Amino acid sequence: MSSTVITNIATLVTNDPSLGSPLGLIRDAAVVVDGDRIAWTGASSKAPATDNRVDAGGRSVLPGFVDSHSHLVFAGDRTEEFNARMSGRGYTAGGIRTTVAATRAASDEELEAGLTRYLSEALSQGTTTMETKSGYGLTVADEERALRLAARHTDEVTYLGAHIVSPDLADDPAAYVALVTGEMLDACAPHARWIDVFCEKGAFDGDQARAILTAGRAKGLHPRIHANQLSYGPGVQLAVELDAASADHCTHLTDADVDALAGGATVATLLPGAEFSTRATWPDARRLLDAGVTVALSTDCNPGSSFTSSVPFCIALAVRDMGMTPDEAVWSATAGGAAALRRTDVGRVTPGAYADLTLLDAPSHVHLAYRPGVPLVSGVWRRGVRVV
Ligand code: NIG
Ligand code: FE
Repeated sequence: MSSTVITNIATLVTNDPSLGSPLGLIRDAAVVVDGDRIAWTGASSKAPATDNRVDAGGRSVLPGFVDSHSHLVFAGDRTEEFNARMSGRGYTAGGIRTTVAATRAASDEELEAGLTRYLSEALSQGTTTMETKSGYGLTVADEERALRLAARHTDEVTYLGAHIVSPDLADDPAAYVALVTGEMLDACAPHARWIDVFCEKGAFDGDQARAILTAGRAKGLHPRIHANQLSYGPGVQLAVELDAASADHCTHLTDADVDALAGGATVATLLPGAEFSTRATWPDARRLLDAGVTVALSTDCNPGSSFTSSVPFCIALAVRDMGMTPDEAVWSATAGGAAALRRTDVGRVTPGAYADLTLLDAPSHVHLAYRPGVPLVSGVWRRGVRVV
């Protein structure tokens, strides 16, 4: 195991609040990586001797992004649907069926090639931890296959058999819920850490969502929910009630929803790529932050509502249109994502955490929002290994 020091960092984001701010900034900093872990952080002038030395040249370093919400196991394309939306048509859950048909028809090799392509796109843009879901198979075999393939590439795997009612059982939703909570759950649970449900008109109502998440919990999966994306509904309060790690989207919130989030341990994960790509109203991050809610920012990368793998793009949107400061958005895309996955070993640059680091060709993390669309990520370490 070798050690490396990265010196001459203009701004280091540690997310260690004991350093005086939520981002735990250190100026003129250095980081020591030992094996796959962070061993030391501090002033560049005080950096200890190590086997290797990297000079950051006055650039900035932050924790690798933790993208806690994506849908990367799919085939096919929905350019036409996107084009129609940009000509004024609205987004509905129905478009998911197009991807379900293409995904069922694809080979394992095709699905895995897509998955690895999007993961490596994300890695090159600074994402070192990525959750991903099933949800485009909707049969026992196709959901199991999606999760099995996903688990080869990430530990953060989510069973989303309850994305929409399968087209095969469109006129018998109760039978589909029975499948999702029965045979499909049995086949999928061994490959997954999480269970998710799309709680929305046109997908699953509150009672169905509760039954699905409760069944998953009994099999050892922990809940998270697609909640309040397209309309007001019961998803957010159900998430808090069931101690879901995260309520995702949170676009349409009542005061009672915000109060519930503020009083619980559920993170609100905001996915501005979806509002961008569906021309929808932005989620109000300011309102959530002012109420004391923990907020995560993620891409929701999927072929329908948000076909971006770029966390920097989401940070820029959140700052420009959702009332977040650059510091808040960077925290939400790193420590916030880790909180949404209930992880303390990623999303921070503190001794003992995984050495997952993003080097920006900029003097500070603020440039992620200040220079939108510019490829600033010039280095990425994952588990102590430089991969970009
Ligand atoms: O998070 N909301 C549900 N699922 C995805 C969209 C899936 C699709 O349109 O293919 C989302 O936005
Ligand atoms: Fe999603």
